[in-house]
Amino acid sequence: MVALMPTYAPANLAFERGEGVYLYTADGRRFLDFCAGIAVSCMGHAHPHLVQALKAQAEKVWHTSNLYRIPGQELLAERLAAASFADRVFFCNSGAEALEGSIKVARKYQKDNGNPQRYRIVACDNAFHGRTLATIAAAGQKKLLEGFTPVVEGFEQVAYGNLNEMRNAITDETAAILVEPVQGEGGINPASADYLQGLRAVCDEYGLLLMFDEVQCGMGRTGKLFAHEWAGVKPDVVATAKGIGGGFPLGALLTTEAAGVLGVGNHGTTYGGNPLAMAAGGAVLDLLLADGFLDHVNAVAKTLEQALRVLVAKFPNVFVEARGKGLMQGIKLRDPIVNREFKTKLEGEGLLLAPAGDNVLRLLPPLIITDDHVAEAVALIENVAASYA
Ligand SMILES: Cc1ncc(COP(=O)(O)O)c(C=O)c1O
Repeated sequence: MVALMPTYAPANLAFERGEGVYLYTADGRRFLDFCAGIAVSCMGHAHPHLVQALKAQAEKVWHTSNLYRIPGQELLAERLAAASFADRVFFCNSGAEALEGSIKVARKYQKDNGNPQRYRIVACDNAFHGRTLATIAAAGQKKLLEGFTPVVEGFEQVAYGNLNEMRNAITDETAAILVEPVQGEGGINPASADYLQGLRAVCDEYGLLLMFDEVQCGMGRTGKLFAHEWAGVKPDVVATAKGIGGGFPLGALLTTEAAGVLGVGNHGTTYGGNPLAMAAGGAVLDLLLADGFLDHVNAVAKTLEQALRVLVAKFPNVFVEARGKGLMQGIKLRDPIVNREFKTKLEGEGLLLAPAGDNVLRLLPPLIITDDHVAEAVALIENVAASYA
């Protein structure tokens, strides 16, 4: 009997320290980290700029609450707004919280605009938006909802990528559309630019908010600050988290001016945007927005994509395909090979990856990887593939 709730079945690995793209166990084993804490450690481990920022803040003040002004919040919000579609930013602690905020924005926006009957949100099959009651309802997946009925009211799902289905699901009760520009947990499925542009048109036609979940695909992961930028689409609301704090718990809800409907008393958080989180978030953004950083992400992503294509072609009995956007890549395994088993074998080789839906292996490396790290990772995957072939 152990006290820890068994909500996870972790690999029997514990890391004592990290440096750059590598993690080390206490007994000195080294692992190439292409999981990055599930798309979180975007600057790798113990990045000197992040460590310095957090240390400096830790010596001043950790937490004051939102009862007082937090200068770091005001600054980070301005910087995020200047770099994106957004005019308003709310800071929270996690992805699910950013999504909860988005859902509240959708309902309040419609109410404030004289449409209180519009409260429903159309999302997509295979989506993942978090583990809170509303976010599991938004995703609508049976495996998430099992045991937690009644389901929070006001969500439906349609096939991802199918604009006709989306259009047909809109009723006079619909408030918003909620989509991941690249589905992560669902198996690394990038939406086409056409689809995202089509969603914008549907929202404009019916007066709906277009809300993107960029918790996983945002913050430089695909080679743009936000993945929707590839499609040239301007959303009304974006929820982000993961990479934004580089490993410090941080989430953000970004909206346009028109969708910035949350005011005093409507929403809140004790911890969200505290001085430590703002120091971490500010340091991540320093690096992410530095000249040439996203160019680097795009260049190394091209190397990775190409290497994965070659790998898949070399082992057609093991792999079905490689797919993704930027440094958010997936390799679909051919049945009966199981992604979790493959992942465990990779750990034996010294490579960390994350499993995803649709029997996919997810590669979510730190954005600071080089072509050499790509070559090293692909060689290790090849070793395991050869053991199956
Ligand atoms: C697309 C997406 N949305 C929301 C979440 C939930 O984020 P968190 O686990 O920080 O609550 C995740 C987490 O994996 C995610 O990938």
